[in-house]
Amino acid sequence: MMISITSGKGGVGKTSFALNLALALSPAYRVLLVDADLGLANVDVMLSLAPTVTVRHVLLEGRSIREAVINSGYGFDILPAASGVVELAQPDSEMKGTLELGLRELAEEEYDLLIFDTGAGISPIVLWFNCLADFNLVIYTPEPTSITDAYALIKVLSRDYGQKNFFLLANQASEKEGEQYFSHLNRVIGHYLGLNPYYLGAIPRDGEVEKSIRLQKPLLARKRESKAAQAILLVAEKLKPFLPGEEPLVATKY
Ligand SMILES: Nc1ncnc2c1ncn2[C@@H]1O[C@H](COP(=O)(O)OP(=O)(O)O)[C@@H](O)[C@H]1O
Ligand SMILES: [Mg+2]
Repeated sequence: MMISITSGKGGVGKTSFALNLALALSPAYRVLLVDADLGLANVDVMLSLAPTVTVRHVLLEGRSIREAVINSGYGFDILPAASGVVELAQPDSEMKGTLELGLRELAEEEYDLLIFDTGAGISPIVLWFNCLADFNLVIYTPEPTSITDAYALIKVLSRDYGQKNFFLLANQASEKEGEQYFSHLNRVIGHYLGLNPYYLGAIPRDGEVEKSIRLQKPLLARKRESKAAQAILLVAEKLKPFLPGEEPLVATKY
């Protein structure tokens, strides 16, 4: 299964949330976190990793996608992006074909869940990753611009690309703010697009999130008791019913 972490407006907390979600779901689920901002790597930086093979080698130098996958050190794997590679900001259809094939193979053979940490906005590659995913998790913050941009992204994805399965998540927001903006978005999305997005709750503003980024260590690995970490764990629980079931235990017969 594939899920994209995405947003209309930039800087809302996608990368930070995506890697903590990956951590929250591991190792119960085999998770691959894909740095879908292909030309501007973020995920490896937030984890203080220095990958030698990245998606650049896969798309521009013919290496296999499995060669680029590395262990995060936190129970899940990563497909790292490249840093400052312009050709990857708008991959051509051949590159997209290679990437789709590789990602579908990994999703079928090695992982329960692929998480795409996308860039912001409605650029072609962001839309492409969102269309490849089974679910689009749209993050917003309690600011009018973030809300209108979230709606614009959902509108384009649903009207022009047929996407239907949306999760909404408020970040840097109180429960009350998260709910208020959700009910507004939900009304507009229902009225104009005929869809019912699923609300995943709110992650509060918490200085520990920024500190984790500065220290290049995931929040859930250093401050599990913090308010933001607890909220992320709750979101992970709410997502579980949508994820592929864990292998049922086989009863041993004697
Ligand atoms: N819940 C939060 N509380 C406080 N700061 C946050 C929170 N979530 C994200 N941030 C801050 O927002 C900034 C952008 O986060 P990032 O994950 O890089 O966003 P994006 O991937 O959407 O650009 C970072 O500096 C981070 O510290
Ligand atoms: Mg990011």
